[in-house]
Amino acid sequence: MSNLRGKRLVLGVCGSIAAYKAVDLASQLTHAHAQVDVIMTAAAQRFVSALTFQAVTGRPVYKELWQSGDTGQLPSHIAHIGLAESADLLVIAPITAHTLAKLAQGMADDLLTVSALAAACPLLLAPAMDGNMFDHPATQANIQTLQSRGAHLVQPESGPLASGLSGTGRLPETAILLGHIRRVLGLDGELAGQKLVVTAGGTREALDPVRYLGNRSSGKQGYAIAQAALDAGARVVLISSAQHLPAPVGAQLVRVESAESMRRAVLEHVDGAAALVMAAAVADYRPRQVAQKKIKKAAAALRLDLTRTDDILLAVKAQRQASGYPVIVVGFAAESENLLENASGKLQSKSLDLLVANDITAPDAGFAVDNNRVVVLDADGGLQRIELSSKASIGASIVQRVGSLLA
Ligand code: CTP
Repeated sequence: MSNLRGKRLVLGVCGSIAAYKAVDLASQLTHAHAQVDVIMTAAAQRFVSALTFQAVTGRPVYKELWQSGDTGQLPSHIAHIGLAESADLLVIAPITAHTLAKLAQGMADDLLTVSALAAACPLLLAPAMDGNMFDHPATQANIQTLQSRGAHLVQPESGPLASGLSGTGRLPETAILLGHIRRVLGLDGELAGQKLVVTAGGTREALDPVRYLGNRSSGKQGYAIAQAALDAGARVVLISSAQHLPAPVGAQLVRVESAESMRRAVLEHVDGAAALVMAAAVADYRPRQVAQKKIKKAAAALRLDLTRTDDILLAVKAQRQASGYPVIVVGFAAESENLLENASGKLQSKSLDLLVANDITAPDAGFAVDNNRVVVLDADGGLQRIELSSKASIGASIVQRVGSLLA
């Protein structure tokens, strides 16, 4: 479930050793139900065979400007016009210094550069080359020229290069490339220009310099909501206490740890926000005192003195009454009994527009796993059951509901 489904992508591949990574990209795009037409430059064919791309995409691969015959049911019998005309995105990964230079000059001497010139869709460029080539003023000037014309760039990573040298020029891993593709495809989505604040993960309340009180929330559902909001074109601020999840490409990640630091971050970032989705599992209690030194083992039992944390959604409710932001507030309820009753109590007491409730006793859904099963309550008494599905798909449903409320 992503904005890749049903999209027509043209993937240009140039002659860099990173061309092999484009195979995985083509494969994962195809698995995500995008239609991928690959155009290879002559140099790319020295690194990877066209058959490899054909096998992973199930589509013909385009290599020749003067190619005739099967155009893969493209709307034109002239491949380059058909390729360029109907695509949702032209992504060139990897793009070499030479092809960047040709595009910057508007040159069109092979199928890829002709297609780029004829394309009406957004252009996403992922350079991969030797570090000195990337840093060269000529390459940098070409990139700037292309960006000033609206091309989107995937910044290459720094690290060891195929040459044995170190520098900036590595093609990022597939997950990052996919994130950039989703970000660019989302730019004209239904939440374009809107700011969404999403919280995720379980907070950690320090006991001493080593220990904390925490909970089992992984943050996966919140991250899936953030990704779905990016897919829909939103500007996403992800306030996260999750530890090991990669941030979705394009999200502004604000790392927090305790309920108090999350409260401060939320109140700051909801200013001007279209929506707040409070998916984080916030601690209700914290140790009254944080020990300055590690607590040593002594007595047979240890009593902890805990005090209540502030309720973030109640603070948001007060701020919203004064400022009007966030426009829409979505809360979560993790319940082990009386699901609907407890959930609707929270919806009302926290003045929420939507409340997403899940039964945490279900072994196949909820904490730490990739699936969830939820009930979405709304302020008008409506109830939507979403049966067991991926957190990605539930994230998309929640974002869709937010979009409908905003519209
Ligand atoms: N929440 C919050 N601030 C807190 C605790 C919870 O904003 N200090 C938010 C959660 O992010 C969630 C909603 O309130 O969106 C409900 O959280 P939950 O823990 O289920 O409910 P509580 O109000 O804490 O009540 P209880 O733990 O007693 O069920």
